[in-house]
Amino acid sequence: AESIQLSIVVFGASGDLAKKKTYPALYALYSKGFLPADLQIIGYARSSMTDQQLRDRIQAGLPKSSDPDKVSGFLTHCTYMSGSYNGSDGYIQLSSKLEAWEKGKSAQGAAAASGRMTSARFGRLMYLALPPTTYPEVCAGLTEFVKEYGPHAENGLSWFRVIMEKPFGFDLETSEELAQTLGELLSEEHIYRIDHYLGKELVQNLLILRFANSIMGAWWSRHYISNVQITFKEDFGTQGRGGYFDQYGIVRDVIQNHLMQVLALLTMEAPVSMHPDDVRDEKVKVIRCMTPIRPEDCILGQYVAGNGQAGYLEDPTVPKGSKQATYAATKLYIRNERWEGVPFIIKAGKALNERLAVVRVQLKTPPLSIFGDLSNMRNELVIKMQPGEAIYIKMVVKKPGLEIEKEMSELDLTYPERYKDIVIPDAYERLILDCIRGDQQHFVRRDELRAAWAVCTPLLHAIDRGQVPLELYEHGSRGPASVDKWTSDNGYIKTDYV
Ligand code: BG6
Repeated sequence: AESIQLSIVVFGASGDLAKKKTYPALYALYSKGFLPADLQIIGYARSSMTDQQLRDRIQAGLPKSSDPDKVSGFLTHCTYMSGSYNGSDGYIQLSSKLEAWEKGKSAQGAAAASGRMTSARFGRLMYLALPPTTYPEVCAGLTEFVKEYGPHAENGLSWFRVIMEKPFGFDLETSEELAQTLGELLSEEHIYRIDHYLGKELVQNLLILRFANSIMGAWWSRHYISNVQITFKEDFGTQGRGGYFDQYGIVRDVIQNHLMQVLALLTMEAPVSMHPDDVRDEKVKVIRCMTPIRPEDCILGQYVAGNGQAGYLEDPTVPKGSKQATYAATKLYIRNERWEGVPFIIKAGKALNERLAVVRVQLKTPPLSIFGDLSNMRNELVIKMQPGEAIYIKMVVKKPGLEIEKEMSELDLTYPERYKDIVIPDAYERLILDCIRGDQQHFVRRDELRAAWAVCTPLLHAIDRGQVPLELYEHGSRGPASVDKWTSDNGYIKTDYV
């Protein structure tokens, strides 16, 4: 393969996201040999720091079990540059640093080829591990100094890509404003809006599972499916992230993006091909068929102290007396022929009894039974995204033995058992590699983002106006007390299954 000379700039290099996610993902790619030998990774932030101080920070964020030789090899590629996000000084400096390195590489290449012309290819990946309020100024600064790129660019710059982290806006309107501003600076092919749920193994498995198995297509509709639940639970609270979290709340933090993306993959029609735009076209289509979530179809919660853990309002980074929701159970419908009438229940909460992200597709009870009551023995396809990735289908079988007795069992694909020797890569690792390869399939397109905001915005506005009551629940509990009944009122039957 043609080799590329790659510069990665991590904006916000001194922050938490860079330390916990970006650098560890880059390290993992490096240690597995997925990054080119000609590589520089420049950390950029406002604070003043030496290269060594940044390297110490990065190292502190890497897994303890990392190979020390690989770690030091990786760190030699990492340097630091301090500069501001507004004004042009920082970007001019950054640009000359990038150019100097690229020129040096071209000269080395020419020397190695003993004067023969070589076609240097340079890629620049800008990772914005920053609050979105800074995006317009950063993108303006960046684009001003990247004048020409593309396969024929004179300076050999083959591509320029910008990875951005959510939240992309606050509601439909502000998201559109941001998209508009960025759209004037960068075209869609340069923008990689990251939603790390799209990088998770079982989320990436959804399309194969659905469209490479005839057994799945047959029952994947309102004719057999009673209800679908997507549940996200975390067993920890805001933990010092209260300042960020309180501005956004649980619906913006995980439902509008991560869980809506999972829902789109579960419910979209088969794409024309696996081309990124074909896949995203189908996602947009199904999201546009989703009904906006009605405030009356939502239960909100906020955690209080429990099980020896502090409540939301006791987090010093949370504003006093905040009414922000840390839990939401919501319901929507998809108005198309396949899904008409099926409730899609989305639940997400922090400070609950466990960490779990799971999809449950529950089938209808068979129309008649010659085996007695089957009403609480429904088939259910369970897709456990984390932890302990698994796919299983709950089935009714004969209990082995002399008597004819039925019981619930399962067809089970549990990854840690089936794929013992495979270490599942982290979501960020895959997505950064996709970006380097120029594959946008698992990044959110602008029209997709708009459609997803349209589903959530009426609810968000009602919440902001204080029109949705807030139930309290204890840290470490299963969430607001009214949720179980609400879920069963929406058709979900808890099966006799252990
Ligand atoms: C982030 C949210 O996008 O996703 C966090 O901002 C949340 O609040 C996190 O904790 C969950 O990601 P994961 O991969 O740990 O499930």
